[in-house]
Amino acid sequence: MQQLLWAILLFVFSQNSVAFDPLDPFGNITIKWDVISWTPDGYVALVTMNNFQMYRHIMTPGWTLGWNWAKKEVIWSMVGAQTTEQGDCSKFKGGNVPHCCKRDPVVVDLLPGVPYNQQIANCCKGGVVSSYGQDPSAAVSAFQVSVGLAGTSNKTVKLPKNFTLLAPGPGYTCGPATIVPSTVYWTKDRRRKTQALMTWNVTCTYSQFLVSKHPSCCVSFSSFYNETITPCPSCSCGCHNKDKCIKSGSKRATSVGVNTPRKDNEPLLQCTHHMCPIRVHWHVKQNYKDYWRVKLAVTNFNYRLNYTQWTLVAQHPNLNNVTQVFSFDYKPLVPYQSINDTAMFYGMKFYNDLLMEAGPFGNVQSEVLLQKDKNTFTFKQGWAFPRKVYFNGDECMLPPPEAYPSLPNDAKIEAITISAIVASVIWLIHLFIW
Ligand SMILES: *[C@@H]1O[C@H](CO)[C@@H](O)[C@H](O)[C@H]1NC(C)=O
Ligand SMILES: *[C@@H]1O[C@H](CO)[C@@H](O)[C@H](O)[C@H]1NC(C)=O
Ligand SMILES: *[C@@H]1O[C@H](CO)[C@@H](O)[C@H](O)[C@H]1NC(C)=O
Ligand SMILES: *[C@@H]1O[C@H](CO)[C@@H](O)[C@H](O)[C@H]1NC(C)=O
Ligand SMILES: *[C@@H]1O[C@H](CO)[C@@H](O)[C@H](O)[C@H]1NC(C)=O
Ligand SMILES: *[C@@H]1O[C@H](CO)[C@@H](O)[C@H](O)[C@H]1NC(C)=O
Ligand SMILES: *[C@@H]1O[C@H](CO)[C@@H](O)[C@H](O)[C@H]1NC(C)=O
Ligand SMILES: *[C@@H]1O[C@H](CO)[C@@H](O)[C@H](O)[C@H]1NC(C)=O
Repeated sequence: MQQLLWAILLFVFSQNSVAFDPLDPFGNITIKWDVISWTPDGYVALVTMNNFQMYRHIMTPGWTLGWNWAKKEVIWSMVGAQTTEQGDCSKFKGGNVPHCCKRDPVVVDLLPGVPYNQQIANCCKGGVVSSYGQDPSAAVSAFQVSVGLAGTSNKTVKLPKNFTLLAPGPGYTCGPATIVPSTVYWTKDRRRKTQALMTWNVTCTYSQFLVSKHPSCCVSFSSFYNETITPCPSCSCGCHNKDKCIKSGSKRATSVGVNTPRKDNEPLLQCTHHMCPIRVHWHVKQNYKDYWRVKLAVTNFNYRLNYTQWTLVAQHPNLNNVTQVFSFDYKPLVPYQSINDTAMFYGMKFYNDLLMEAGPFGNVQSEVLLQKDKNTFTFKQGWAFPRKVYFNGDECMLPPPEAYPSLPNDAKIEAITISAIVASVIWLIHLFIW
């Protein structure tokens, strides 16, 4: 029944949108322009970027927003952000030179710690925006722009066109700006409301396939009931970088400069057979009468990147009965009211929300205790393994079903629970060596 529902939902949604994520069907980034005043030659707008995606955040080096002016507009000034180039402002004589004269301005956030007179609320975070599921209050970024040589009323103003969003890399497609009902602002005591003079919205959606034809993470499995460790499929993330990778423990892996990020964010990977920057490991650790326990580990194989505010999403039918999650923060995701099988995990602030670069500290781990639903629970046929796994909003490659650790024939689970200890040891070795 559930499978059928999923199939129908998938079909319905995939018909009308390319960038559709079944685990976050309503996720998008919305950019809203509120005109807050008209000026003699244009307007002042408050631009707010809201990340409505449950588990896809914008990490360092942050967002870059571009658009094309419809006419010959210029940007007189900005607060809380800046354009990356001024462009040719030579026709402006005298003291008053615009901040940017380009027809296609490209805007970036300011870094934290700029003087107060250059800040506005929700600005100056180096372009880092949290996912909505992780922290709704930090899932917003804003700046103010003063536009000149533009329309000066809601009849003459022309909306900017061709919005582009890098967050920080490619993947987002933005729709056209559309006029929406003016934003309403309430005073603090909620006794008076004011409204923007005019508001338009732009919606941007994410598609993993615009980034790369290969996944960016893979999943490996193990269990207490079978000694086999099911590795990530070979070349999960494409083996095109194989000649540039670094052998773990080699001289080069510990040399100075390996960890220096590059301007183009090109990764420098540790050599593995999967060649993924991220591996997620799902270990079925223990079996109790009414509960079972899963161990989760995420390993970073990129020497040049620390993952800040990382997120992990897993889909499994028993995630409707999570009893306890150790050392990760956890939130159930229920995009379709009737199906509760998806969980989002993320690091605890100041404890493990930073997944360090490849090396001895490049991993984070947790355990999840689940209550069995007696009608569906089984260790047979790989049921105990996840159906889908996402890291930072990108879907990870799973092993093929025939490779899953299988239950030994007619063995009693209770009897082999003892071997859980052995399996854990193997698992630990696996974590540090592979
Ligand atoms: C964008 O996301 C919000 C919040 O989930 C949703 O209400 C809105 O309909 C979405 N917009 C589009 C165009 O999908
Ligand atoms: C415009 O964007 C804001 C968020 O920035 C959202 O609350 C509002 O619903 C959007 N309006 C429409 C019509 O999509
Ligand atoms: C927007 O992009 C399209 C296609 O890239 C281009 O033809 C058009 O001129 C652009 N619009 C503006 C106002 O630059
Ligand atoms: C433009 O402003 C006039 C009044 O100044 C208002 O009646 C009208 O609804 C506004 N139109 C839009 C599209 O906001
Ligand atoms: C990762 O973070 C640590 C601690 O903040 C820092 O020392 C290291 O240089 C960072 N590595 C990269 C690749 O940015
Ligand atoms: C979904 O399952 C989680 C984990 O047991 C639970 O906390 C949450 O209340 C459930 N949500 C719904 C809507 O059933
Ligand atoms: C969790 O499992 C218990 C025991 O099987 C069951 O009674 C309960 O309804 C389950 N909760 C959910 C949200 O499915
Ligand atoms: C463990 O799982 C593998 C892969 O499914 C299977 O080939 C093997 O027979 C299993 N081992 C035992 C002892 O059942």
